[in-house]
Amino acid sequence: MQIITGKQGGFCLGVRLAVDTVIDSISKYGKIYTYGPIIHNKNVVEQLKENGAHPVESLLGLENCNLVIRSHGVPPEIYDECRKQNINVIDATCPYVKRIHETVKANSDLGNEIIIIGEKHHPEVIGTNGWSGGRARILYSEDDVDALPQLSKACVVAQTTITPEKWDEIVTLLHGKVRELELSNTICQTTVKRQEETIQIAQKADIMLVIGGKNSSNTQKLAEISAKYCAKTYSIAQLEDVPLAIMNPNDIIGIVAGASTPDGMIREVITIMDELERVEPVVSSDMEEIKPVECALEPEVEEIPVSAEMEEKESVECALEPETKEIPVVPAEPEEQTMQEAEPAALEDDFAHSIDKTLVQIRPGQVLKGNVVQITDNEVCVNIGYKSDGLIPRSELSLEGDVNPRESCKVGDEVTVEVIKVNDGEGNVLLSKKSVDARKVLNKYVESVESGELFEAVVKEAVNGGLVALCKNVIKVFIPASHVSVRFVQDLNKFVGQTLQLKAIEVDKKRKRIVASHKLVLQEDMKHKEEEVWSAFKPGDKVKGKVMRLTDFGAFVDIGGVDGLVHVSDLSWGKVKHPSDVIKPGEEIEVEILSLDPERKRISLGYKQCLAKPWETAVERFPVGSIVEGRVARIVPFGAFVELAPGLDGLIHISQVSTKRIDKVESELKPNDTVRVKVLEVNPVDKRISLSRRDVLLEEQHNDQVESDKNADSAEEIIEIPPVQEAKVTLGDFFPPSEDK
Ligand code: F3S
Repeated sequence: MQIITGKQGGFCLGVRLAVDTVIDSISKYGKIYTYGPIIHNKNVVEQLKENGAHPVESLLGLENCNLVIRSHGVPPEIYDECRKQNINVIDATCPYVKRIHETVKANSDLGNEIIIIGEKHHPEVIGTNGWSGGRARILYSEDDVDALPQLSKACVVAQTTITPEKWDEIVTLLHGKVRELELSNTICQTTVKRQEETIQIAQKADIMLVIGGKNSSNTQKLAEISAKYCAKTYSIAQLEDVPLAIMNPNDIIGIVAGASTPDGMIREVITIMDELERVEPVVSSDMEEIKPVECALEPEVEEIPVSAEMEEKESVECALEPETKEIPVVPAEPEEQTMQEAEPAALEDDFAHSIDKTLVQIRPGQVLKGNVVQITDNEVCVNIGYKSDGLIPRSELSLEGDVNPRESCKVGDEVTVEVIKVNDGEGNVLLSKKSVDARKVLNKYVESVESGELFEAVVKEAVNGGLVALCKNVIKVFIPASHVSVRFVQDLNKFVGQTLQLKAIEVDKKRKRIVASHKLVLQEDMKHKEEEVWSAFKPGDKVKGKVMRLTDFGAFVDIGGVDGLVHVSDLSWGKVKHPSDVIKPGEEIEVEILSLDPERKRISLGYKQCLAKPWETAVERFPVGSIVEGRVARIVPFGAFVELAPGLDGLIHISQVSTKRIDKVESELKPNDTVRVKVLEVNPVDKRISLSRRDVLLEEQHNDQVESDKNADSAEEIIEIPPVQEAKVTLGDFFPPSEDK
């Protein structure tokens, strides 16, 4: 069942003022009188009477008493009579009605004809007529206008609760009767809004309930308007009038209320609907007796026009919202309210509360306090002051998961609970303590986040402009792209699935949404680490670091939150064309802190300083007589320098370049050639290494000759099958005496 309620329900401004005035007067004077029932609502009038406000229809016998004038207003003679009888008048005439009185009096004093469009027996019209000296012509039908003589000029006002159509209808007719009309549309904007809203709701509803007193003019007009658009329109003066028997679970029920209907009564009707939703529809034999309100007016589809004057009145005085909205029965933000708070003993004599205390006020989502009255293995029974006790199932007891109800509380404990269902199908109110606790934790959490505490959230998706993450599985967090990292991030998708530490930039507590920054967290972290680095390190320290990025002039290495620079000249003992020849981004390396400049926030690092110096190990790495490979680094007139290792070059003297005599090194070698050379001498003190290419070539020639001889011998054996003979070969057979040796 769907319930649509109007926004314009409850007392209007005038009725609210009148009721408040009566309540104030009772507390001030004790017994008081009201000139007629203060509002058209029997229950409220009865309550007021019980508390000391007695309605009277005449002033007889009221000498020296206190009298409240109701919102409808009265003719001036009543004030005169009160003065005569020394009656203390407490005037609660609605300000809008008072303004009509002033208009009428001013025009009447000028001798103008006064026309009131309204019902002549309505107290408001009677009161207004009084301010014209009782001379006003009161019109409500075409016949009334017909009976009117031709007039030269007239001031026209309206009863505040007539419909705009009625105003238009009569004014149109008046044009044929009055030469000069001075129109003062005094229909109350509250009334207009309620009527407009009633049309909108009635068009959607299967059943319309118009709540308010049978003798309330504005309520009855609402019922008539509603009946034009919804055949099943019912006037509800008391709860018993609600036609429960004809309601079905799929019905859309529209609820509107007159200006003198207390909020509490509207809530009570909604509660009944809410309970009905949980039971099977009942077909009653009384159905025939329940009669919908008859449509007294012809159906019309045009919108009710709103005059400029009415609009002005709305903005200045009524300040009520013009739209009709579907109001969910469950409020968006449930307020914590104890049943004791709803009917506090201390306020027993407060009339407003004494009205409220008769009302049923629980609804799903409401948070209440109650006392534990019984505990079983599976549930806790709580007295929440409602007609039936509430039950907290074991599963709804604690955020900690499954707990033993007997261990989680004891009889008499006060607990705060949320209403899950008003009726669980067996007449029990279903409650949850867990959801209240969860909300508290969540609120506390949001507060801590708002105060600047860091929090974590899991990134769910990359969207246009940033990341969307979820904190505690319920709080939506948006991280703008500019706040994702301290560096520009090309592809935000790589963060999806990651848990990020965040700091809030903006918190929407109500909607539980946070805009947060990961960058701020990283920056703070870097700041701390930087401070640690500046105080912890000194030149000469060797630290581990991670290569972050390379440039032409060196490599930036993170040494624990701070980046230092390894200049290209400090990457290797040898010559380096580009840092990438030595290290790669992401590589973990050891570096030496060469210098620290806290003011300029600069750290110089050395990589080669952590490697052995080439000459210190040259003897071991390149023993004399060994044959090694190297790259021709440069050629000079007397030979060629060969790089054996970074920072370690040896010299092939020109005489050792070839097996034959050469005039120019270039005839045999060129820069960057890879050559095999024999180590002739290593002198780490003078940092010199002598190399010979010639020796290597000679040895290779010798080896080739030996190999070739072996092959020749094998071939002969196969052909002639000669007896095996030992080859007698000496090195002297192959090596001519060397000039250089
Ligand atoms: Fe006054 Fe309008 Fe109510 S005229 S009494 S505020 S309906």
